[in-house]
Amino acid sequence: MSNARKPARTLWRSARLATFAEESGWGLIDNGALVADGDRIVWLGREADLPATTLPRLEIDLGGALVTPGLIDPHTHLVYGGDRAAEFELRLTGATYEQIARAGGGIRSTVRATRAASDEALFQLAAQRARVLMAEGVTTIEIKSGYGLDQVHEARCLAVARRLGAELPWSVRTTSLGAHALPDEFAGRPDDYIDEVCSWLATQQQSRLVDAVDVFCDTIGFTPDQTRRVFDRARALGLPVKLHAEQLSNQEGARLAAEYGALSCDHLEYLSDEGIAAMRAAGTVAVLLPGAYYFIRETRLPPIQALREAGVPIAIATDHNPGSSPALSLPLMLNMACTLFRLTPEEAWRGVTVNAARALGLADRGRLLAGMRADLAIWNAEHPREIAYRFGHAPCVGSVFGGASRPAPLASQ
Ligand code: NIG
Ligand code: FE
Repeated sequence: MSNARKPARTLWRSARLATFAEESGWGLIDNGALVADGDRIVWLGREADLPATTLPRLEIDLGGALVTPGLIDPHTHLVYGGDRAAEFELRLTGATYEQIARAGGGIRSTVRATRAASDEALFQLAAQRARVLMAEGVTTIEIKSGYGLDQVHEARCLAVARRLGAELPWSVRTTSLGAHALPDEFAGRPDDYIDEVCSWLATQQQSRLVDAVDVFCDTIGFTPDQTRRVFDRARALGLPVKLHAEQLSNQEGARLAAEYGALSCDHLEYLSDEGIAAMRAAGTVAVLLPGAYYFIRETRLPPIQALREAGVPIAIATDHNPGSSPALSLPLMLNMACTLFRLTPEEAWRGVTVNAARALGLADRGRLLAGMRADLAIWNAEHPREIAYRFGHAPCVGSVFGGASRPAPLASQ
């Protein structure tokens, strides 16, 4: 929080730490302790080795609880009006996600509801969702625009995302996703709409509304050529890019995004071998979205084994949005990444910590190490694999953001 006072030097003791400090393994420390000064971790290790000079102002006995890095959700569409429960019902009588989108529903119906909502309503709706995510340990989130689809409403949604970062105890990274769908006003003129999207980016950047740029590259989204135009503009402005790539078909979007050194390519069910090779060469993170895979009943799995063998870092996100993934639990995504995508619990955990940080270009979080941000999730569990194993209930008993304990339970506020 921007106005928060510097947190007092604090010692958390009687903890089991899962640090993810090395390239592999959980980095478990039993009978551990952690010291934060301000928003940074200054020491961690076995409690027996705690330096006598630590002198904390505040001491918190965790009674053996498990401490992990605060969770990072690297792909969400948290700011929008309305819901798509009726569309969910339609899908249960036979319509597909793609058919609904082509018939003017889908993303465009959320655009209508979002444009009709006030700034305050958008903020309050998103803040409620935020509290649910935070109650299960999320301390950093990426939030995309993409339900405004004109200059004013896109800027409004990005400003709401920024306000969520300023007023709630978590970090928000914003992504401009004007190229999410073709708004009704531009029907039949997608290239003209892409010109518009490109023209907004400089102003969004000057107003400090945007940290990265994304495009939905697919048959119901935009073509690779249109994606390239947005990415060229982003590159000219020095903004990093990400891509909704190969979700419903293979457009070789991942290869294109890798050319631009993309931070991440997301979804990836239809990713090709060439795409994997390009992502690996560019150091692009694969962000997998088991919630969307599940909810639109996709049957094609992302090429997990090939990604693993290539050494492409894998992250996991909720993809929270009203159409393809109305999920608000990152621990549930850990379970689904394991059951649906066959990730190991450790891979899934790295996906919401260290690799999620990388997907956002953040080097100061995602692991427990001296010098990193003191963003922590505290669990009533003996081992992090338990949190991937359970579903429908996550035993999160507390969290710390920038060295300060967050009130719990946040969801009931
Ligand atoms: O990540 N694929 C495009 N965008 C979202 C869905 C948005 C929506 O249906 O409202 C996604 O799945
Ligand atoms: Fe998405």
